[in-house]
Amino acid sequence: MSLFVVKKSGPLNGEISLSGAKNAVLPELCAGLLTEEECVIKGVPPLNDVFVLIDILRKTGADVKYDEISQEARIKAAYTGGDVSNEHEAVKMRASFLIMGPLLARNGSARLPLPGGCPIGSRPVDLHLKGFESLGAKIKQEHGTAEAKGAKLKGGYIYLDFPSVGATENIIMAASITEGVTVIENAAVEPEIMDLINFLNKMGASVFCLGNGTIKITGVKRLHGTEHTVIPDRIEAGTFMAAAAVTSGDIIIKNAVYGHIKPAAAKLAECGMTVDELEEGLRVYSTGKRKAFNIKTMPFPGFPTDMQAIFMSIMTIAKGTSIVTETVFENRFLQAGELKRMGADIKTEGRVAVVEGVKKLTGSHVNAPDLRAGAALIISALAAEGQTEIGDIYHIERGYSRIDEKLRAIGADIKKIEEETEERDKKDRNDLGNTVSIPEKKETE
Ligand code: EPZ
Repeated sequence: MSLFVVKKSGPLNGEISLSGAKNAVLPELCAGLLTEEECVIKGVPPLNDVFVLIDILRKTGADVKYDEISQEARIKAAYTGGDVSNEHEAVKMRASFLIMGPLLARNGSARLPLPGGCPIGSRPVDLHLKGFESLGAKIKQEHGTAEAKGAKLKGGYIYLDFPSVGATENIIMAASITEGVTVIENAAVEPEIMDLINFLNKMGASVFCLGNGTIKITGVKRLHGTEHTVIPDRIEAGTFMAAAAVTSGDIIIKNAVYGHIKPAAAKLAECGMTVDELEEGLRVYSTGKRKAFNIKTMPFPGFPTDMQAIFMSIMTIAKGTSIVTETVFENRFLQAGELKRMGADIKTEGRVAVVEGVKKLTGSHVNAPDLRAGAALIISALAAEGQTEIGDIYHIERGYSRIDEKLRAIGADIKKIEEETEERDKKDRNDLGNTVSIPEKKETE
């Protein structure tokens, strides 16, 4: 099993760059199914989730080329009639469900396994299916699959009970080439959705945000190919901001977009850090001791749920009592158990966690329970006395590309102990037609 081995690290210092946003590139790859022409997407990070999605896109019949070195993906979906109704493994990576809208609109029908729950919650897709019904599709759910059928879809009106990111994305994509006008109320408006809309409009779509969560889509007959560079990953930015906070560092995060991380900057200001907007990104630096602060996660522009675990790591060593309210997912405190093994003082009750700052954390063997909880363990390990070994890092590598190398470049004492099979996995990916960089076998220092 691969491990991250992390030691207490001095104030982080230096410059760090962000990769393309995972949660923008995944829907945009799916949007490539909406046209027969080639789309080129730049800034696609070599993440496990990206490889899983590319594999299922290929199974629909699309031609997908991905170069890990240039981080450029080319998708040409001349044909999209492949049967993906048994791709149960792939749909465990939930974003795969975002091919449903494009396939329904393109083929007049789509059938996919229902994505299961995951450690952070049951994660239903009822709002996605309700959206397709509003366009006139007939929905059938049986044997663990969902089928949407509708040869003559029409623009419709959808009110989302919750501003679901995935449902908003799936419905926008389906409506983009569906005749008529579609209006989504109470839509999610995260930066990743804005980037998807930007990408679709470059393909010839007509999608507009009318304000207060209303999105209007006027369907067009066909979309054309385009070239697009993905926005930088704001959650990765938040992760590096937290790393600076727990080590009282002073870092520059290049290519970060201040407007995407305002909630994180506001919380850092409450706990004795300063975030300055620069020409080329952000400067994040310590202006005193870490003080307790509270977080309530909300859909954008509120504090993002994906940064909740990462910021809880700051709270564990901040003077005083901090309170976290997680309003988006029902089980997103999985980091608490592992942080307590490092000496953190955290009590959780349902969707509320109370964190008492402690004088010090101590290094321990911990395991990443999910993607962002795993990132939180790295952050805490940078501040913990001694050495921390983090297992199950495949969770972390679903959403972070070479996070150990990036953190090491700004002074973190972190190294990855790679297991044998990783090399074979890389070779397999190469054989599948991806251009893979396979460094010679070595323990990464
Ligand atoms: C996206 O997931 C992100 N993933 C998640 O990031 C992120 O945490 C989440 O949005 C919220 O911002 C990608 O973009 C690939 P939702 P998604 O639909 O679309 C309920 C990460 O760490 N809901 O906005 O699945 C759902 O149960 C990942 O990068 C329904 O009830 O999230 C949840 O409680 C984790 N019915 C809430 O809405 C539905 O049909 C938010 O889910 C859909 C969702």
